[in-house]
Amino acid sequence: MPRVTGTYVSTTTAGEAVRAFVPHPLPPTAPPLAAEALAAANHEAEMALARLAGVSGLVPSVDWLLYGAVRKEALLTSQIEGTQATLADLFDGEAGLAVSNADDVEEVTNYIAAFRHVRERLRARDPRKSLPISVRLLREAHRLLMTGARGAGKQPGELRRTQNWIGGTRPGNAVFVPPPAQQVPDLLAALERFIHEPEPVANALPPLVRIALVHAQFETIHPFLDGNGRVGRLLIAALLEEWGLLAEPLLYPSGYLKQHQAEYYRRLSAIRTEGDWEAWVAFFLEAMAGAAAEAERSVIALASLVAADRRRLLASPKAAPASYRLFELLPTMPRLTVAQAQKSLKTSFPTANAAVNLLASLGILSELTGQKTGRVFSYQAYVELLMQ
Ligand SMILES: Nc1ncnc2c1ncn2[C@@H]1O[C@H](COP(=O)(O)OP(=O)(O)O)[C@@H](O)[C@H]1O
Ligand SMILES: [Mg+2]
Repeated sequence: MPRVTGTYVSTTTAGEAVRAFVPHPLPPTAPPLAAEALAAANHEAEMALARLAGVSGLVPSVDWLLYGAVRKEALLTSQIEGTQATLADLFDGEAGLAVSNADDVEEVTNYIAAFRHVRERLRARDPRKSLPISVRLLREAHRLLMTGARGAGKQPGELRRTQNWIGGTRPGNAVFVPPPAQQVPDLLAALERFIHEPEPVANALPPLVRIALVHAQFETIHPFLDGNGRVGRLLIAALLEEWGLLAEPLLYPSGYLKQHQAEYYRRLSAIRTEGDWEAWVAFFLEAMAGAAAEAERSVIALASLVAADRRRLLASPKAAPASYRLFELLPTMPRLTVAQAQKSLKTSFPTANAAVNLLASLGILSELTGQKTGRVFSYQAYVELLMQ
């Protein structure tokens, strides 16, 4: 007997009568989630995350790994939404260089700001600044995500007040009609309770499985006018850290979800249409394991590249203190001008210029503009590795 995961209520939207889906609160019941069948996949995913944390411990500075991983996640989660920016655009934007698709880059930098804000709130020791994972915190994240041109009409930081729908050109042919707006606050409050549920109910399920449930439930509630995918995936990242699965945000799960986007959406739908929580959780665990293995390969490749380039620099008779210091900055500043190098190194223009030129002569940096002035340099091999 298939499980029933919610009820349908009739509403009217955009002049059409539709059936909106109201999910039952978590966890799945009647029958309960078949957790034993998922135990092996859960173990594998936890293992892959632990390995990722272990491998990143081999790298001299976790900061520059985090710099890349956070930007990659920001980019990929925005690409699922349809944003056209690339990692190079993002680095250019951060370096203050001109970008052709400024609105797309803004969306990605908004995600980074929202994610940073959530982490600060969760980690803050000052009770005036600290906030647990909550509807309020997600609304703050949404407000930051929807800042600027594109988000302005999307009620930043507000739960929706109108009926929405997913897929299709109008409510009547939608793939999915989320719950009526007036039910959203209660549904979110129940989700918040599940996240903070003490033993024994929720804790009987392993944390990764609970994160899978939370993400799907959030997407099913679809509480905002837009940005639900990105806030829901930000919630994955926040819970991975909160629940001790990964101490630092080294994972970019949106890469896997983007590669398997059709299945991602299909599995979410099957929770409603077939009551199939198990297949969703299995897919999510595969996504976590796959993303962690991918991130582990990337850490090793990036660390090898930086080590090889560092050896080249060490072997150069022309290396000066500023060139070493600049080299250490490159992984968190992969696109730069001489003026920026000067500022970051807190040195004179000729010293910064010499450092940049030395790294360029060693083939570590390459100049992108071909001009004599306003030159832009890129740690190109690094950017390309990160983009893979
Ligand atoms: N069939 C579905 N059932 C539930 N959620 C879905 C379904 N299809 C897509 N989604 C979720 O909705 C998100 C898109 O909603 P949207 O509010 O536009 O978010 P964003 O603007 O961040 O992409 C997807 O990224 C996905 O997480
Ligand atoms: Mg959208």
